[in-house]
Amino acid sequence: MFLSVFRKFISILFTAVFFFPSLITRRQIAGDMHTAEEDPKLVFAAISDIHLTNDKARAGMLALGLADMQASVRPLDALLLCGDNTDHGYDDQYELLQKTLESYNAAKEIILAEGNHDTWTGDDYAPAKENFIKYNKLICGRDLTQAYYSVEINGYRFICMASEADHTDAYISDAQLMWLDEELAAAAAENKPVFVISHWPLNYSHGLPATWEGKLWEKENLGGLGDQSDAVEEILKAYPNVFLISGHLHVGLSNETHKKLDPFFRYTSIEHDGNFCSVNLPSYMYPAVLGRGLNGQGFVFEVYADKVIIRARSFSAGVWLTNYEETVLIG
Ligand SMILES: [Fe+2]
Repeated sequence: MFLSVFRKFISILFTAVFFFPSLITRRQIAGDMHTAEEDPKLVFAAISDIHLTNDKARAGMLALGLADMQASVRPLDALLLCGDNTDHGYDDQYELLQKTLESYNAAKEIILAEGNHDTWTGDDYAPAKENFIKYNKLICGRDLTQAYYSVEINGYRFICMASEADHTDAYISDAQLMWLDEELAAAAAENKPVFVISHWPLNYSHGLPATWEGKLWEKENLGGLGDQSDAVEEILKAYPNVFLISGHLHVGLSNETHKKLDPFFRYTSIEHDGNFCSVNLPSYMYPAVLGRGLNGQGFVFEVYADKVIIRARSFSAGVWLTNYEETVLIG
């Protein structure tokens, strides 16, 4: 009890300390979404960890962002929900998600990826998988046989990974690893960016394990994909132009690695390793202890022939957060 109250106090304190100065020092641009350059080949919004319950206040928070996306001057090709879309994968939570999404025309396509909370439906993984597949059909119009799947939008491949167990970290079967490798091999021949979606980031990326749930004192290997992380990483880094998009950490936006601020900001939301790029999305629903802490945030990916521009946005406020923008060249 005391620990819980203490954590809440620390969370509010950090949010106040780090957010309010940022209003003064960080450049922001408000207004309807315009693309950074003309004629992108693909534009999609990516948010994560909306943790929808049957609470209408949470649905209202999501609706703020959907209204912003709907007002985009260049209609969005896709909206990615990167897992923990529901708090427990229950029917009423998915129904509220469906109803909220249907109330707006946020994007031409919706991509639902599974998160650990979406697997916490029953005593084992089976009912969670059943509901994930059922609501993928109802919300996105896709017929899935597995919770992992790929879709092509405007000629670009989105490969959605999924845990096949109901643990906090992921379980990626050998069959899924083989499928991932085959999907990336097929995409590599096209010399285009390919987007791999995994709710869970790679182990030791984005400041893990210290960034897991703000447990700065945590030393165990927690918060990432788990036991199959090395195998996944080896496959991802064997191919060019791979963008891994994850959530799960509930840390705010950060582009800071300055040691002076260590350990609070010792991670970045966008990481590079050669031409492999890893993007960790903040929690849309929850304010974060670390980084730029307010909720309602995510990224917009604008894909051009030779580059991807990754732009941070507060969808709930309708504001570009230009300090967190990066351009990644394709090659
Ligand atoms: Fe989450």
